[in-house]
Amino acid sequence: MTEPSAGRGPAGGNPGVRVRRVAPAEREAWLRATGLAFSEVPTTELLERDRRLLEWDRCLGATVGNEIVGTAAAITYAMTVPGGTAPVAGVTAVGVLPTHRRRGVLTALMRRQLADVRWRGEVAAALWASESGIYERFGYGVAAPSAACRIATRHSAFRAAPTPPGRLRVLAADAGLAVRLQPAFDAVRALVPGMVPRTAARWADRLAPVPHPGEAVGDLVVGVHEDPAGTVDGYVCYRVQHEWHGPGAAAILRVEELVAADPEVEAALWRLCLDLDLVAEVEARHRPLDDPLRDRLREPRRLRVETRDGLWLRLVDLPAALAARRYATAGRLVLRVEDPLCPWNDGVFELEGGPDGASCRPTRRRPVLRVPVAALATAYLGQTRLHTLVRAGWVAELQPGAAAAADRLLGWPRAPWCPDVF
Ligand SMILES: CC(C)(COP(=O)(O)OP(=O)(O)OC[C@H]1O[C@@H](n2cnc3c(N)ncnc32)[C@H](O)[C@@H]1OP(=O)(O)O)[C@@H](O)C(=O)NCCC(=O)NCCS
Repeated sequence: MTEPSAGRGPAGGNPGVRVRRVAPAEREAWLRATGLAFSEVPTTELLERDRRLLEWDRCLGATVGNEIVGTAAAITYAMTVPGGTAPVAGVTAVGVLPTHRRRGVLTALMRRQLADVRWRGEVAAALWASESGIYERFGYGVAAPSAACRIATRHSAFRAAPTPPGRLRVLAADAGLAVRLQPAFDAVRALVPGMVPRTAARWADRLAPVPHPGEAVGDLVVGVHEDPAGTVDGYVCYRVQHEWHGPGAAAILRVEELVAADPEVEAALWRLCLDLDLVAEVEARHRPLDDPLRDRLREPRRLRVETRDGLWLRLVDLPAALAARRYATAGRLVLRVEDPLCPWNDGVFELEGGPDGASCRPTRRRPVLRVPVAALATAYLGQTRLHTLVRAGWVAELQPGAAAAADRLLGWPRAPWCPDVF
């Protein structure tokens, strides 16, 4: 397959628009165009940060004449999928100038980017959406929803006190801490579909973030749990927003990331936050849907949970993606997949999978389910039940009982989660 070339004239019918890789001399203009699409004027520090984080050979610009009017980029990831990892493009920096919106510029960028992703041999693309109405038309579905939760500390008693094996410490966040936190992160990453590795630059961005003007209240503090040998096996990054004018404890603690493979360590890190003096409320965003926090509580109703769409996934090389993951039980499934945007995925496929491996190939057999590619993406990491999507009218059951059988095959014990918002 040859590398996708610069194209003129997107599908949306906008003949003056050209999508191409951004040249070194255009990088600052490209970053500024991305900012302006979000009505932001980046500071010099933010421009520097983005220069460090981006892979410039994966940055696409949509141009009219010499002006960059739209941007899209991708990051190269090995994403955890059920039972393994798979090459996945992390889509980021998507924006179109307000003066050029609704003329097919995003459509042109998405088409070119999907062609690039396929050419690179990546099986899927993933993204965080600014709005939930944009990406389904490009084949993306919500594969790893996330939860935002909030609880008043005075109603946060656990059923049982945690019994972690080591000790807790609180430290000022510093990029140098990354080498101590990374093994704990990687231990969880190996278990949880949807997680992606972090480079040193991403760790620095996590622990010493460049502030967006007006954002982030309170200093970043890291609570760590050290096992008896002194190794960090879990951590929580948080900020406390103080409130000094009330009659008593009124601060809000915001958990930015809490990671531990050992449930007792995880529970101890929550207690560190919930028992902090002066704190009246603890909030956490981007938590996995199977977070056991509610089930630890004596008063479960006190935890307010809001589910968000989280990570979206687009299966780009459908048979390779389905063959890259493992399946909790052995089984076979014949699917009619609908994918008008990526016609190489549009057809009937036979998936045969189990705990030790999987294969997927085109077939002439009779399909038992008809599935739009975006709907299949929602089930790919093991989260969504196709049976629910049949009831929602999004997936069609062509043989009675097929959706329940598919769910037995596609389901995975650990809920998908992506703590990296890229
Ligand atoms: C969202 C954005 C990228 C869309 O770009 P665009 O060039 O206007 O999109 P297109 O013209 O290619 O639109 C393609 C389709 O998506 C629809 N669409 C575009 N933006 C949409 C939105 N925000 N919500 C719902 N639908 C949207 C269009 O109506 C069009 O639908 P159609 O195919 O049925 O006609 C652009 O408006 C933007 O930059 N917004 C602000 C920044 C942002 O949200 N970026 C996305 C980050 S994840």
